[in-house]
Amino acid sequence: MLTFVQNPNFLCSLLVVVIAWCIHRFRITPQPPPNSPPIVPGGLPWIGFAYRFIFKRHDLLQECRAKYGPIFKVPIAGTYCTVVSSPTAIAAVITKSPRTLQSLNDRAVRTITGVAPHRVSTIASLLQHHVFGIISAKMSKRAMGSFFVGMSQNLSKRLDHLVPLGTHSQVQFSLRDLIMENFYQISAPTFFGTNVPDVYSEFIHLDNHIFQLLNDIPFIRRGAYHASERLVKAFIPYVQQASVGDGDIYVEGASVPLMDSLQQLMKAGISTEEIARIFVAVTWGFHSNIIHTLIDACAYLASDPIACRSLTKHVRSVITKRWTDLDTFLKEEPLILDDPEFAILDSLLQETLRVVSVASSGRKVLRDTAIPREDGTLYWIRKGEFVLADVAALHNDPEIYPNPEKFRLDRFLNVEVSYSARSVKNLVPWGGGPFVCKGREYAEYIFKAWFIQLLLKYDVSMPSGYKPSLCQNISPTIARLAGNPHIILQRPTP
Ligand code: HEM
Repeated sequence: MLTFVQNPNFLCSLLVVVIAWCIHRFRITPQPPPNSPPIVPGGLPWIGFAYRFIFKRHDLLQECRAKYGPIFKVPIAGTYCTVVSSPTAIAAVITKSPRTLQSLNDRAVRTITGVAPHRVSTIASLLQHHVFGIISAKMSKRAMGSFFVGMSQNLSKRLDHLVPLGTHSQVQFSLRDLIMENFYQISAPTFFGTNVPDVYSEFIHLDNHIFQLLNDIPFIRRGAYHASERLVKAFIPYVQQASVGDGDIYVEGASVPLMDSLQQLMKAGISTEEIARIFVAVTWGFHSNIIHTLIDACAYLASDPIACRSLTKHVRSVITKRWTDLDTFLKEEPLILDDPEFAILDSLLQETLRVVSVASSGRKVLRDTAIPREDGTLYWIRKGEFVLADVAALHNDPEIYPNPEKFRLDRFLNVEVSYSARSVKNLVPWGGGPFVCKGREYAEYIFKAWFIQLLLKYDVSMPSGYKPSLCQNISPTIARLAGNPHIILQRPTP
């Protein structure tokens, strides 16, 4: 008997039998229940497609959509995630009540803030019901007035310093550094006030590793976790200084949304350390998506010399004809940015977001619910599963956007050419429904302000032959630009 067991052939056969049994035992049977979206077959026992869903999500979803259509279920870690990418299904998912489909904000709060597990739901609920409401109200088009004007004026000063006046030679910058540093260094003090801790390098570190932190990947998330803890430490004295006794707060030079949010958090009895942790998440959320949208937009625009020259000419002619100079324009209320003369900048933003948005608006299914298909029939998804809107697939559907791989500055301007492209259901970079982005109006305005000022002050270009490409697999909302291209700025000749 002993010789039999020692026989390598016997051991190999035994191993094969055991593995086969495990696969049979734990296999997620690709037998869809009635009215279920098609289930993507294969994947490892129990684990399903978890690895590719985390690390190669964009590629996986593209492959599955090509095989199974715009709605399918991916087995992941013992459950399913239904991925939707048709306009009707995405609209249904993002607008459903939070009692049916709940956002994954709890998870984001836990991973980014690092608050104690038993405090996560209290803090997430406080953010959802109070702080996000303040951001939405105080950063709306009509309310952001003084905050926005201050931000624009600081932006103007900062951009002026890039190339000294009177210098007419071309100056090269790393596109990423130019936007990240300049944007962050004006935006953080305008929002948090003059005492905001100088944490730019920690912010960059956190932002570079946010994917690992959000996915809570052990070991790999260490770098981002340490950056986040350093940010917390830096914010604690800032929060302590803000408290001036009897529940009153004062923060030198801070914006109204910051002061109101702080007041709410203190009133709710949130500790100084927890507020500092919340501010780390706010710092990241307030800057990251805008910064990456600006980086991507600059790369696409500046690498297309014809589009870039035509937009520059247009912006300069509008400002000089109507306001004579930039300083007069900067004193205007932000609502001026809705002027039809700036519609081309809306098109630039929409086209950028069309191209760079990745799958987002993840939801947990709290009650069985139906998702409509384009033919009017329904698919059912079950309590305990997840849903994800594959916005990137929708935004690249050639039936909605002809030649979707082309970046076209004026795609959203020409109503006749792009009638379907202008339907609200076909462009959803801000999510929608109860969890729609609360900072979208501010993001739209600051995006336009950035381009007006940059193009007024500089002739902008990229090294010839440069073509932007994106890293879509490991970006949270906005795909990140691949590589570290240079941008060239030159003062216009008078
Ligand atoms: C280009 C810039 C931005 C993009 C593309 C963007 C996109 C998004 C998306 C896709 C969501 C998820 C929506 C959903 O789950 O359906 C979201 C949520 C959110 N965004 Fe933005 N965002 C941007 C900038 C900002 C800024 C500047 C702020 C703050 C001023 C902000 C505040 C928020 C908040 C608070 C939420 C959570 C809303 C909730 O769960 O109720 N966002 N954003």
